[in-house]
Amino acid sequence: MPSFWNTLPKPFFALAPMEDVTDAAFRALIARYGKPDVMFTEFTSADGLVLAPPSAQKLLRKKFIYSEGERPIVAQIFSAVPEHIEKASALAARLGFDGVDINMGCPVAEVVRQNCGAALIKDPVLARELIRAAKKCGLPVSVKTRIGYDRDELDSWLPELLAEEFEAIIIHARTRKEMSDVPAHWDAVARAVTIRNAAGSNTLIVGNGDIKDIGDAREKVAATKCDGVMLGRAIYGNPWLFAEANNPERSRRAITPQQKITALQEHLQLFDELLSHTTNYATMKKHFKAYISGWDGAKEARIQLMATESVAEALALLQRLHATFSTSP
Ligand SMILES: Cc1cc2nc3c(=O)[nH]c(=O)nc-3n(C[C@H](O)[C@H](O)[C@H](O)COP(=O)(O)O)c2cc1C
Repeated sequence: MPSFWNTLPKPFFALAPMEDVTDAAFRALIARYGKPDVMFTEFTSADGLVLAPPSAQKLLRKKFIYSEGERPIVAQIFSAVPEHIEKASALAARLGFDGVDINMGCPVAEVVRQNCGAALIKDPVLARELIRAAKKCGLPVSVKTRIGYDRDELDSWLPELLAEEFEAIIIHARTRKEMSDVPAHWDAVARAVTIRNAAGSNTLIVGNGDIKDIGDAREKVAATKCDGVMLGRAIYGNPWLFAEANNPERSRRAITPQQKITALQEHLQLFDELLSHTTNYATMKKHFKAYISGWDGAKEARIQLMATESVAEALALLQRLHATFSTSP
């Protein structure tokens, strides 16, 4: 099967997986407003997908909902058990995903305790076994990781990964210990490219960490020679983020309050259609501040919005808010 990774533009721009943020609803909205070159699902426990009883599967499978407009779309999974990675990857293939990504970077204690996420940096033998297990499903495989556990270990960690010959490595340029507390070390991304080139590997190197917009991403590509950049938190309240890749003139400043309100209305409608049967309405609230800000009266509107208890209530409030702009002289 030809890999979508080889058909991407150079450089390419990817949307980062963010649990309870870049869910099926937000990704469908982003696909409409400014489609990235590749998107990832939020991470999903392969152990859960394999072992959970049918009643709990419904909640896990919501992470694997996607719409056709998101392609290429990669399913991100985590586990420390090769058999579970193999089975979850096979499921991703059956569900029509374009690729599978193994999370080897999550710093959260609960994940690390299960020897998953960033803990795999300390166990390259197991990490390599997991990659081989994922490859059996026939989908292109990628790994998202960090530069080290307690310290920068790229010089030993990256060659271990590259030896498995898979499609792409996304490097969040911090150690596990650093969490997100220090600026990302983009010099390490440049070093990753040098290590990859010296190894004669074809694996793509994707840099990640602290990128504000596509202009910033292009600067990092020029400085590091990485193949692509992944953007995460910059997408909050800004589904237009990736539209700048094709239209550099479009800046966030040009987006009006009405456009932001409309985008949030659409986001809420997509949440209602795709996720409201499995996901608490409170999940939507973490988006409100990012959309409803930047104009006089935004704070008051936001306070009211935060007090809403349903999508219908929020939509009614936003409709009134939108109308105040339409009628102002
Ligand atoms: C709320 C939140 C949830 C995240 N969930 C995931 C996840 O499910 N899988 C993953 O690989 N990384 C996850 N990350 C890390 C991001 O993908 C990304 O590596 C990190 O935010 C740095 O990129 P940024 O500075 O562009 O946001 C998460 C980050 C945040 C803020």
